[in-house]
Amino acid sequence: MTKPIQDYFAPWIKPLKMYVSSHIDLAWRDPSLHRMMSNENPNPPSPQVMQAIMKYGAMANRYPDQGIVVRAKIAAMNGLEGPENVVLGNGSSEVFDNIFRSFLQPGEEVIQQTPCFGIYKLRCDLLGGRLVSVPMIYRDRQLLYDADGVLNAITPKTKIIVIANPNNPSGNFMNAGDFVRIAETGIPFVVDEAYIEYAGLGKSQAHLTKQYKNVIITRTLSKAYGLAGLRFGYLLADREVAMQIAATLLPWNVGTIVMWAALAALEDQAGLAERVKFNNEQVAYIEEMLGSIPGLVVFPSQANYILFDAGPAGKKGKDIIEFAQKKGIILRGESPKYGSEGWFRVTIGSKEENALFVQTLREFFSK
Ligand SMILES: Cc1ncc(COP(=O)(O)O)c(C=O)c1O
Repeated sequence: MTKPIQDYFAPWIKPLKMYVSSHIDLAWRDPSLHRMMSNENPNPPSPQVMQAIMKYGAMANRYPDQGIVVRAKIAAMNGLEGPENVVLGNGSSEVFDNIFRSFLQPGEEVIQQTPCFGIYKLRCDLLGGRLVSVPMIYRDRQLLYDADGVLNAITPKTKIIVIANPNNPSGNFMNAGDFVRIAETGIPFVVDEAYIEYAGLGKSQAHLTKQYKNVIITRTLSKAYGLAGLRFGYLLADREVAMQIAATLLPWNVGTIVMWAALAALEDQAGLAERVKFNNEQVAYIEEMLGSIPGLVVFPSQANYILFDAGPAGKKGKDIIEFAQKKGIILRGESPKYGSEGWFRVTIGSKEENALFVQTLREFFSK
């Protein structure tokens, strides 16, 4: 008798399910809804990017190269030697896949600081790793990184430490000195800088890759550059480390259209500055308009989203999300934590959408 197919799957794969973003599916199904949930950019691609898409779309019959031109541009923008310091991915999500595959074996550990983005858990589970979550400290209406907690969580099985800079969903940065303390451990240390451009590359930890071979920076064009649908991300690392990780790449993982559109976006720094200015003004507007609602904790953000805790006002995040959806706005929920069920997150939308969000929240809290 033959064995059933289920017996052939790796044991750690069996409990896993396909990742489905139901909120993104909903937004595509009903385009009348305001997409204020996935940290996308509300502004469409620039004319330069559209031109590159058209130009290389006409050459879509050809295989891409290894992205040498765009990798050289990225290296230069970050003060690194050259293309061999840069590995490209189909979004930074794929870059995480390559990094995790490079280091993690079944039973080994990944340390993350929570609350945080979900891809670290997804990739860890896929490889049969064990995820160790160290919560941020919630004190005086602030979420604070806990670098001591991260360092104390290290065991002989720790293979990766990942910290987002700034963090999603809390929008804050870890102290520069704490990055050095973690880098000093020698353990592969991934710094996720998906949103760094909103605060500027001055806040980046990319310089650490020159001193510490174990530091790897990840970035994406999905956020400030506004190209989430194109899928382009990259990592920065020491040349030898980057090229070892590159050995795990799926051949031709980034298409010709995408890599040249990405180059056009990276070259359009004026366009980036405009998007960043718009975003940061809108963050300030929302923080100001909602900052005085009694019991609503607004977490100051240096990215394109804002986290809230309505727990101290006696409200639940899920009720706010439901109320907003009736007004046509999709927000993002957060699991209950720190004894509160009041968590939710908004992504900066267009000017009109942000005004509608403010009005909706004021209405909810005046009920
Ligand atoms: C912190 C963080 N890192 C990485 C990503 C992945 O982005 P992408 O795969 O589009 O590059 C996201 C997306 O929301 C994120 O919030």
